[in-house]
Amino acid sequence: MIKERFTRVGFILAASGSAVGLGNIWKFPYIAGDNGGGVFVLVYLFTIAFIGISVFIAESYIGYKTSQNSVSAFETLAPENKNIWKFGGFTFVTALAILSFYVIVIGWLFQYVVLSFIHLPASVAEAESIFMTLLTQDISSQIFYFIIAFAIIAYTVSKGVKSGIERINKILMPTLILILLGLLAYSLSFQSFFDAFSFMFYPNFEKFHTESILVAVGHAFFTLSIGMAVIITYSASMSQKTDIVKSSVIVALLDTVIALIAGLVIFTILFNAGYESSQGAGLVFITLPALFYEFGFVGNILAISFFISLAFAGITSAVSILEPGVRYIEETKNINRKQSTYVISSIIAIVGIFALLSNTSSYAELLTIGSKNIFDWFDYLSSAILLPLGGIITAIFVGFIVDQNQLKTLLLNYMSNSVYKVWLFSIRYLVPFGVGIVMIEKIGLI
Ligand code: PHE
Repeated sequence: MIKERFTRVGFILAASGSAVGLGNIWKFPYIAGDNGGGVFVLVYLFTIAFIGISVFIAESYIGYKTSQNSVSAFETLAPENKNIWKFGGFTFVTALAILSFYVIVIGWLFQYVVLSFIHLPASVAEAESIFMTLLTQDISSQIFYFIIAFAIIAYTVSKGVKSGIERINKILMPTLILILLGLLAYSLSFQSFFDAFSFMFYPNFEKFHTESILVAVGHAFFTLSIGMAVIITYSASMSQKTDIVKSSVIVALLDTVIALIAGLVIFTILFNAGYESSQGAGLVFITLPALFYEFGFVGNILAISFFISLAFAGITSAVSILEPGVRYIEETKNINRKQSTYVISSIIAIVGIFALLSNTSSYAELLTIGSKNIFDWFDYLSSAILLPLGGIITAIFVGFIVDQNQLKTLLLNYMSNSVYKVWLFSIRYLVPFGVGIVMIEKIGLI
């Protein structure tokens, strides 16, 4: 049984801390840019509303109802075949795979905070050479910052739900929101803000591609932290007074608003310098630092704030990614939280260092399997296969397997009968089929 629980606000902060991550600030703007802006945003909003929130509520239900780690939670709620259904809870392995490369990116962000103090690149060419050198040559400083990031994350988790996870979210989340609002206010002073606004909110249907739907669904899972036992585990520690529907909607709204703000800020800066929207993954580490340089001293402040906010968003997410595995070991293997945190963190840190080395020129060949290196394999396998698979398993489990009377009785406290019917339809059919198609398509794209 869980000893410590989040307060109501604590849960919302921690769950949004999990949802708001590198996905919102780093990934969302560039995939929105690559997929034509407005149309993508529209498809994305639709996906969050109908698929994302539905799965989020289903995961919250599993955690809330059982107050157990994800594996035991599946076991408890399955009326029969418990030994098979418990594998639904092992999706925390996906979370751990994500953690191994996610912390590498947080390490780069730490380095960029330092860089923003001392030296911003004067051109995109210089910025590219700085980033590529860091990525492919600079093993020792990458490992150094990786270990610092990992230590902060593991220390937080080892402190437990209240004094670790809730506390760090109470500090970092409001700070992150303030920084982003500050950056948004600053962007408003530019003419290019209006171009950014219409780029993001004016759907140009000529740019509509079916791939955009695939990208939107994949990203909706990633950004809401669903499909990998994270929300199940956090919900297991929520106060029993929490309204699981309202909190799911608040988290999804906050997550979406923050992604949109990040998009507006980034595109304002980009368009102001006459750049195109589709700068790919290099946007944050290559294009933006060079553009910040143009602002002189203000640019350093902008860059520092921007990279700190990204690092904060990353840390609160990483903490949530580590928690499900730790909780599983702690509850089922009879070792305390500190020990289980350090056991899991050390294993993932070692795996992470291999992923880190796989980007460097000295080890790339050794650590590349087929078409991708280990870093890219983890990223690809988790978002294209494991995450959607986790979402489908959860949806089928809640939609068909768990006691439907208990489910309905609980949820009807928080939603009307007609909303419940829409939700159940989404969980039973829209998610398994919709997400199933996405998965098949994505696998075909290897
Ligand atoms: N949701 C986080 C983001 O957008 C990432 C994440 C993935 C968090 C998986 C938890 C689990 O960056």
